[in-house]
Amino acid sequence: MAKQKKTNNKTQTKDCSSDTVTFIIMGGGGDLSIRKLIPAIYNLLEKKTITNCSVVLTARSPRKAAQVLTKAKKYIKKVKVSTWNKLVSCAIYHQMDFSNPGDYQKLDKVIQKQETKLKLCGNRIFYLATIPQNFNIITKNLARTKTIRNTKTHSSKVVYEKPFGDNYKSAKSINKSLKKHFTEKQVYRVDHYLEKELVSNIGLLRFTNRILEPLFSHKHIESIQIIINEKLDVQKRGRFYDNYGALKDVVQNHALQLLALTCMGAPKRLDGEHIRASKAKFLKSLMIKDFFLGQYEGYKNTKGVTKNSKTETFAAVKLISKERRWENVPFFIKTGKALKEKRTLIQIKFKPVKCLLDYCPSETNHLTINIDPVDNIHFHLNSKVPNSHQKVAPVKLNFSQKANFNINTPKAYQILLEDVIKGDQSVFVRSDEIEFAWKVIDKIEDLRKKPNKKYPHQNKLYTYKKGASSPEELGAWNKKHKIKWTA
Ligand code: BG6
Repeated sequence: MAKQKKTNNKTQTKDCSSDTVTFIIMGGGGDLSIRKLIPAIYNLLEKKTITNCSVVLTARSPRKAAQVLTKAKKYIKKVKVSTWNKLVSCAIYHQMDFSNPGDYQKLDKVIQKQETKLKLCGNRIFYLATIPQNFNIITKNLARTKTIRNTKTHSSKVVYEKPFGDNYKSAKSINKSLKKHFTEKQVYRVDHYLEKELVSNIGLLRFTNRILEPLFSHKHIESIQIIINEKLDVQKRGRFYDNYGALKDVVQNHALQLLALTCMGAPKRLDGEHIRASKAKFLKSLMIKDFFLGQYEGYKNTKGVTKNSKTETFAAVKLISKERRWENVPFFIKTGKALKEKRTLIQIKFKPVKCLLDYCPSETNHLTINIDPVDNIHFHLNSKVPNSHQKVAPVKLNFSQKANFNINTPKAYQILLEDVIKGDQSVFVRSDEIEFAWKVIDKIEDLRKKPNKKYPHQNKLYTYKKGASSPEELGAWNKKHKIKWTA
């Protein structure tokens, strides 16, 4: 560790090593903080990725840190008493109004007091786990009140949770404000899907295997499906969700990121910056062909949801790309809440080969990347049926993450915080990617409002029963687009 340096900051007792940090969670009493962030910080302490930390939970409502932590405890798999006590002893709750600059000065004092008490040296990670409407004001106030500062010896970073804005215009405005106040190196735009093990494998799988990459184009691929089915309904997030819906909550970010990783052109190198550039180029090329929206029965009775809500909890979308490489290849996205089962996957369906048999194979090859709840990859090939002359049947080549590596991979938010601590931005999203993805959603939002004689279903919201696979009417839509969903 480097020697002590003289600074004006009285908490600056030694140079900062990255294993000591203050997490400031803006929106600290909310769902994300409770279900994901606090358990992730616990795991970092348990794994000793960080040896010393302070957790400052901030939000508008009066609360006690103990209340929030007790709720979060339920989401930790195995609680070790000593680690839990350590977390409890370093966490505090600070009530504040995000729009009041005076409150940031008070926040700064609270952080400094904690830093002194816990002998921390000033590394700060501000996590904006709040609605995007707060992003601009928080950014401005953090910067102007100097609650965020960077010196040679310690750093402040700002993490922006998704959704980043609620349309192209608002995302652009947030990006503008970030650029004004912070350097790009300080900013982390989150999409936790990018931290999932098999998602971070997509680029490597494609670009390190000769038998895959040359086939990734319209010459060989018939269609691509991205499926993010959820069994859970909106639970206690009614107020938030009702302003977003499936398109803005999941399609704009997770689904389009999965599609971009699957279809982007070869990056110059397989590193963060080049991958982001390739994804942005692909996202820019996307065009909407059709879509279908639904809402589960009972959604309108959820606390926080308006009685006549038109918010979609289910979406199926068909897109194409302007890139020549993907000429006329349909990309299908399907996502929904309160469906039959949780399944997240990508399926790449290859074109049929010329049939040289009397009985042609009924199935074409496909590659399935299962992301959740299991993580594995299947390659579906055709193979001879034993004791037959010419009969073929589909068989699966399997790669199972667990069986091959026998490693329990940490949860996405834990890896994400580790990356922020290390300053590794490779799996965070760039401003232009986010903006291009919003353009896709804006187009759908536009179309659903305009009466459309050719595609009347675009103006409708179909209901479905909780636990169903989709609204029944999706069947006709599937038929029209010749899509058979894998899940
Ligand atoms: C979040 C959405 O980004 O992703 C939630 O806001 C959704 O609505 C969640 O449930 C799904 O994430 P995962 O990792 O559970 O598939």
